[in-house]
Amino acid sequence: MCYVWRGLTKLLPCQFKTPRSMTISNKLVGVLFLANALVAGSAFASSIKPPDTVAQRAVAYIACHGKDGRATSDGFFPRIAGKPAGYLYNQLINFRDGTRSYPLMTYMVGHMSDQYLQEIAQYFSEQHPPYAAPQPARASADSMALGRRLVLTGDPARKVPACIACHGETLRGVLPAIPSLLGLPRDYVNAQIGAWKNGARKARAPDCMAHISKQLSSEEVGAISSWLATQPIPRDMAPAASVTLPTPCGSAQ
Ligand code: HEC
Repeated sequence: MCYVWRGLTKLLPCQFKTPRSMTISNKLVGVLFLANALVAGSAFASSIKPPDTVAQRAVAYIACHGKDGRATSDGFFPRIAGKPAGYLYNQLINFRDGTRSYPLMTYMVGHMSDQYLQEIAQYFSEQHPPYAAPQPARASADSMALGRRLVLTGDPARKVPACIACHGETLRGVLPAIPSLLGLPRDYVNAQIGAWKNGARKARAPDCMAHISKQLSSEEVGAISSWLATQPIPRDMAPAASVTLPTPCGSAQ
């Protein structure tokens, strides 16, 4: 779609511009028309509309996810920058198709094609803005120790796998579609595990995260989220290349 200025304030679609209908105030467009007919006219027009680049489209997401997708201080809008493209793409598809529920996201991506969502996912996976500082520890020492234990070793007696078994030894995520667990605010982790427990968030079957979330008590979820949120961010946050999953996950690919 192309637009031209009509007068000083009105932006009209290109089909409205014909030499006959022009006014004095859009003389500049007229000069271009006389010189180069329609070609020059549309060149001028395209110079005044925003460029249709992925970066330009990504501006809509930055309103909530922060500059370059680095997250905001709100605690519920996660960082999307630098996450594996496959993971981001799966989430966009889940929001579009209703298996992950957040009305604003569903509204934004409701009519987008797979190709468009792939480009948005790729764009944010390539952004690497700085991380916010880890959150201060608020939980008791016992709770922090419980969180650490569950993340690093799981609970073999109940067959709860360690988080690092899938999210990577250093929790930086694994290509192509397992996200990092570092740099996530406590509230966000609590909300996601809660959403898996009550079915508001679903991943492709077998949904390993739904299964794991349902095995965890609220006390354990609080302990895990508190411990994760206080972890320092390593200099190299690149996701690991691969992992052997302890249990199958439909969305890990
Ligand atoms: C068997 C593999 C596996 C294990 C073990 C596992 N996860 Fe996950 N996790 C995944 C996959 C795959 C995803 C991506 C799900 C999706 O596509 O929505 C994920 C996503 C998540 C997310 C969403 C992150 C975000 O940015 O929204 C959180 C939070 C999470 N896992 C926490 C945990 C915690 C805490 C543990 C340990 C108690 C754990 N996971 C153990 C596979 C695993």
